[in-house]
Amino acid sequence: MEKGLPPPAPFVQRRRAKANSLLRVLSVLSLVAVGAYVSLFTVHLRGNTSLSSIPINANEIQQKCRNLNVVPGPPSDFYSRSKSDRFEHGTKSVLIKNATIWTGEKVIESGDVLLDKGIIKAIGSVDESQYGFVDKINAHGAWLSPGIVDLHSHLGVGSSPSLKGASDTNSRKGITQPWLRSLDGLNTHDDAYRLSIAGGVTTAVVLPGSANSIGGQAFVIKLRPTNEKSPSSMLLEPPFSFNGSGIEPFDPPRWRQLKQACGENPSRVYSQTRMDNIWSFRKAYSTAQSIKQSQDDFCSSALSNSWSSIGGSSATFPESLEWEALVDVLRGRVKIQNHCYEAVDLDGIIRLTNEFKFKIAAFHHAHETYLVPDLLKKMYGGEPPAVALFATNGRYKREAYRGSEFAPKVLAENGLNVVMKSDHPVLNSRYLLHEAQQAHYFGLEEELALKSVTVTPAKVMGMDHRVGYVKEGYDADLVLWDSHPLSLGATPKQVFIDGIPQLKSPHFISSKPAKVQTPPNTPNWDREAKEAVEWDGNQPLGPRERFDTGAGKDVVMFVNVESMYAKIQGRILRVFGEEETLGKGVVLVRDGEAVCKSVSGRECLQMSERLEQEAEGKVKIKVVDLEGGSLSPGLVSYGSALGLTHIASESSTNDGPAPDPLSANPPAILGDTVIRAVDGLVFESRNALFAYRSGVTSAITPPSSSGFLSGLSTVFSTGSSHALEQGAVLKPDAALHVGISMGAEKSVATQVGALRRVLLGDAKGEAQEGELGAVIKQVLDGTLPLVISVDSADIMASLIHLKEEVEGTLGPGRKIKVVFDRAAEAHLVAEEIGQAGIGVVLSPVRPFPSSWEQRRILPGPPLSSETTITHLLKHNITVALGASDTWVARNLRFDASWASLDSSGLVSDAQALELVSANLERLLGVQPGEEGENTDWVATRGGSLLDLEAKVVGVVSSRRGVVDLF
Ligand SMILES: *[C@@H]1O[C@H](CO)[C@@H](O)[C@H](O)[C@H]1NC(C)=O
Ligand SMILES: *[C@@H]1O[C@H](CO)[C@@H](O)[C@H](O)[C@H]1NC(C)=O
Ligand SMILES: *[C@@H]1O[C@H](CO)[C@@H](O)[C@H](O)[C@H]1NC(C)=O
Repeated sequence: MEKGLPPPAPFVQRRRAKANSLLRVLSVLSLVAVGAYVSLFTVHLRGNTSLSSIPINANEIQQKCRNLNVVPGPPSDFYSRSKSDRFEHGTKSVLIKNATIWTGEKVIESGDVLLDKGIIKAIGSVDESQYGFVDKINAHGAWLSPGIVDLHSHLGVGSSPSLKGASDTNSRKGITQPWLRSLDGLNTHDDAYRLSIAGGVTTAVVLPGSANSIGGQAFVIKLRPTNEKSPSSMLLEPPFSFNGSGIEPFDPPRWRQLKQACGENPSRVYSQTRMDNIWSFRKAYSTAQSIKQSQDDFCSSALSNSWSSIGGSSATFPESLEWEALVDVLRGRVKIQNHCYEAVDLDGIIRLTNEFKFKIAAFHHAHETYLVPDLLKKMYGGEPPAVALFATNGRYKREAYRGSEFAPKVLAENGLNVVMKSDHPVLNSRYLLHEAQQAHYFGLEEELALKSVTVTPAKVMGMDHRVGYVKEGYDADLVLWDSHPLSLGATPKQVFIDGIPQLKSPHFISSKPAKVQTPPNTPNWDREAKEAVEWDGNQPLGPRERFDTGAGKDVVMFVNVESMYAKIQGRILRVFGEEETLGKGVVLVRDGEAVCKSVSGRECLQMSERLEQEAEGKVKIKVVDLEGGSLSPGLVSYGSALGLTHIASESSTNDGPAPDPLSANPPAILGDTVIRAVDGLVFESRNALFAYRSGVTSAITPPSSSGFLSGLSTVFSTGSSHALEQGAVLKPDAALHVGISMGAEKSVATQVGALRRVLLGDAKGEAQEGELGAVIKQVLDGTLPLVISVDSADIMASLIHLKEEVEGTLGPGRKIKVVFDRAAEAHLVAEEIGQAGIGVVLSPVRPFPSSWEQRRILPGPPLSSETTITHLLKHNITVALGASDTWVARNLRFDASWASLDSSGLVSDAQALELVSANLERLLGVQPGEEGENTDWVATRGGSLLDLEAKVVGVVSSRRGVVDLF
């Protein structure tokens, strides 16, 4: 209850409507006749305090005191509701027929669901004839799940596209600020709402950022647009204090959410240490504790009618607007979402909970929680916090260095609740479900994986009485999927929020193969997960066994090979693996080459016997059973700083940025030096080794730079130990890299002008000289590709002109090789890009409007029938997929597979592999059969590189003369 309201009369009913009208009557009465009014309620006061020493609102104070420690929860009549408080007038009832429903607890085959007045009215077998008035949807057996719930989002506060005028995630005005509220920065026009809904996200906790120990209060929103169009109307069960007037004195309070952060982020922002961070918490909690104590003391007097000891008629409840949220934490009425990574920080917060007696709802990011499950169980209150994780996003800072893809599995096995979260826009929450898919792939069991983005986050935020399940009486938030939600690329066919269909007609679905209609039978990772824990997340990533397959040496025989893909003349072809194989194929590898491959296996088995006899037992034959697996060409990663960095945010672990020649002070000593990435290569970074173990056996990396001209990229082996090893550097220099962007230090026109001058020479026709001149000569010869990082279609248009201009100057028939890299808006000028013979490397692979110049994306199904990839391919453009960050490289195989699944059959399996191998090489200047080509093979068990069923078990490398088994 808040100040300024008339006191409730003693006889009011618990029915809210009645109560409110009585309050209004009483407030009028109180204005008219204060004296009579006072006598009205003093009758009720027990004790014999004299009238003059009693505050006029004594009854209200006592009510407030009685309510102080009431635990939040739904109103008592919530479970009998027939209409949602979020129901929008005019919403039609919907009957979904014949869906395969995952309710949050179990699967109902051929089930129906009736949505009415914003809630789920009936589920199971609904008699259609009873509901003539509803919209009917025949699901034809498709999967139906609860809406996706994101426990950690900055949607609306960290804006997309990112603009300086709308950066409302972090306040930097103080280290502990429980009084701030994310709601106050919630932009209703963010581009991401529509996109995230298209990924099935229906509810999210919008958190302040992690720049502070206590960043402020978070709010739960539903993502759909509302009729009122206000941020407030997007809130789900906001605490009554949020607008200062939504007071419900007879209902329990609602859950509040608070953001806390420990470790690097608050430390970095306030240039302080972990010691300062924990002290800032203790100081803040100590303040809250004293306020709480004074409230409790006050209330104990008030409730025993000892008014004189607390100020008599002027007794005032001790309140602090600044600290009230933290006092509520101590009263157990706030869900704390705590950004916290490392054992040292987790320990600090667990101690804090015991010192001040409060609970943490979930540790977020929490990369080391899987190493200290017992520590989490020591939290105050006995029940451990949940853990909210990324699946494979890690190693970006020290705190994340020991992060593991097995964390969800290990934590679940230790009885902890696992949530997968987006930290949107860090990860695009449109693909939050993909985090659960990956967690499942790496060992989190099916039901827990589904719960990790539905039931569990709903519970952790205190909303599981209405979201997270498909159950009678729950909010009508559901997603109808085009495939099983844990299969790669699962896409909504329709999304309902509060019963309102969110995908407007027309919306698009890609036809999916039958195999993705059931949950993937994912590999066993018990051994790897155990090792990760034993080594504190720093387990060796090298091969378990290495065979030297040089001439006359070991032979490796892969048996039970279901399919094999080969790179032939820069194309990937399936060499066997249609029906005829039946898992009997054998591939024999000697000297790093597949010397024999046979569908029936017979020829290769005979050959291996012959080899054994010839070598008189000196040749070791290693047999590897792929259990219906596959051999495919090694994948190639391009686009990130892979090979130049260990930990992105630690400069002492990185090659560092190349100077920008367009900046104010390029160092004079450099002269016309062209920076070469090969000079800065680092090997055995964990992201490179994870990529290697995921089938990405070479990478093409330009010098790190956000400026205009970064220099020459290099091609290297991700599995090598150092640059001097045989086959470590495949090609020292691959392509020349330039970046042109709005928002750079110099204008776009200046950047394009500088490129023109570099390519064509100055007005007097004088060409570049020296090192840069030599490199430019190769570009003009058409032997060195010019790769331009560019997102805006407008800048692409200028560059297409520039290319024509340069070629016109060079003379008839002369062509230069140009590639657009990143290329978010490429689809807008696809025809012109195709005609100009320009290639495109897309990065990120699935577009997102992070910046203004990326905002006109082609979002793909269900928002558009085409993806950028299919659209560019239809214009005969050579397309490849890049990796936008070093940790992303390991996921290339799934990115490729997803591109194929999204393409309605346009992109075959072999073409999908081309997007992340042969096409990249062609665009980046690595020609078939020439220096730099990745000639490795990758062996997968249980399926192909493109399948969530398969695990990479080996790499065959002729150039390095080894077979590595993992
Ligand atoms: C539900 O849909 C599936 C798939 O289309 C179909 O095989 C089945 O017969 C349908 N069941 C009912 C009860 O209509
Ligand atoms: C405050 O919010 C409540 C919903 O919790 C609503 O009923 C009330 O009308 C709001 N007050 C104002 C002034 O908007
Ligand atoms: C793409 O190439 C094919 C075959 O060369 C040709 O028939 C088609 O017209 C081309 N499409 C476009 C959009 O240029």
